[in-house]
Amino acid sequence: MAERGAGMAADIAEQPDVFSRLLSGPNAEAIGQVAAAVAARRPRHIVFTARGTSDHAALYAAYLAEIRLGIPAGLASPSAVTVFGARPDLRDALVIGVSQSGGSADLVEVVRVARESGAQTLAVTNDPNSPLAGASEMVVNVAAGHERAVAATKTYTAELLALLMLIEGVRAGDGTLPADERRELDRLPGLASALLEDQTAWQLAARYRFAGRMVTTGRGYAYPTARETALKLMETSYLPALSFSGADLLHGPLAMADPDVPVLAVVGNGPGGGAMREVLARLGERRADVVAVGPADVAGSALRIPTPDVDERYAPLLDILPLQRLALALALARGEDPDAPRGLKKVTVT
Ligand code: AGP
Repeated sequence: MAERGAGMAADIAEQPDVFSRLLSGPNAEAIGQVAAAVAARRPRHIVFTARGTSDHAALYAAYLAEIRLGIPAGLASPSAVTVFGARPDLRDALVIGVSQSGGSADLVEVVRVARESGAQTLAVTNDPNSPLAGASEMVVNVAAGHERAVAATKTYTAELLALLMLIEGVRAGDGTLPADERRELDRLPGLASALLEDQTAWQLAARYRFAGRMVTTGRGYAYPTARETALKLMETSYLPALSFSGADLLHGPLAMADPDVPVLAVVGNGPGGGAMREVLARLGERRADVVAVGPADVAGSALRIPTPDVDERYAPLLDILPLQRLALALALARGEDPDAPRGLKKVTVT
């Protein structure tokens, strides 16, 4: 019988190879061609549709689209289409379905309706033969390989990287990444390998083994990391984990912060990290037990999960690795099997 958590551990460990594969010639060229086709249509809006972990990859891409392309971007509410029968006018829009399985039925329906409504449609998926890929005009294969555990890990970072390459390719216009961008991306596999050597996650798992709840937070590019961390903690450790953007945290949830609620704060080196300083100060006033996830020591936080010092735009591809390992380690410390979370399946058909 396989060791508990062996599947999730193997999926996590493969992420440097997944990055290398996606950056390699044929995959990068295929993404570049899709990016050029998108740029040629000059979309005025980008709408993402996704669920769960893939929704967090979509949220990252929505930030990228607005910041790097200046195109308004957001996440669709699939229920508006599938439950309430909405038929939004999507002419001039690019609709991107993000799904590791390509089998989430509501996303397939949203993309089908969007295509009928005049949108350019794209599937970003780990299964290029899936229903989502079939419903979409174009497909980006994130090429992560078979994912063993129910909890998505390597497919998440593969989606992040594919979406980053796509959006930077659109920005370039012809789908070809500029040399400096390509240089930064080529560093990712090595940085990810080094990060996976760090043992802090195991130490923190011992510390938080009996935690009753947790809060995660971050701003901008780091917010999807906070959301994804909370999801991983909930589905593998059954630990109630609440996630807030740093800005939203100050609009109410701050009141529940106290020394008994561990807070994982993702603090990058850039404008998003800068905007977290006020949040950290306010958490400090509440004497919250803050663990900073980031490249530098942060005033007011006694504990830190160290991550590489990269531009905040790339940080989500790396920062999540030790947090996935924390979820794995915490589940094992609490006697759970993170490979087979209770009540969940790999593909959720709603
Ligand atoms: C991920 O860890 C979850 N098990 C789940 O939220 C998943 O991401 C969601 O069901 C979406 O799946 P998809 O990417 O295959 O569409």
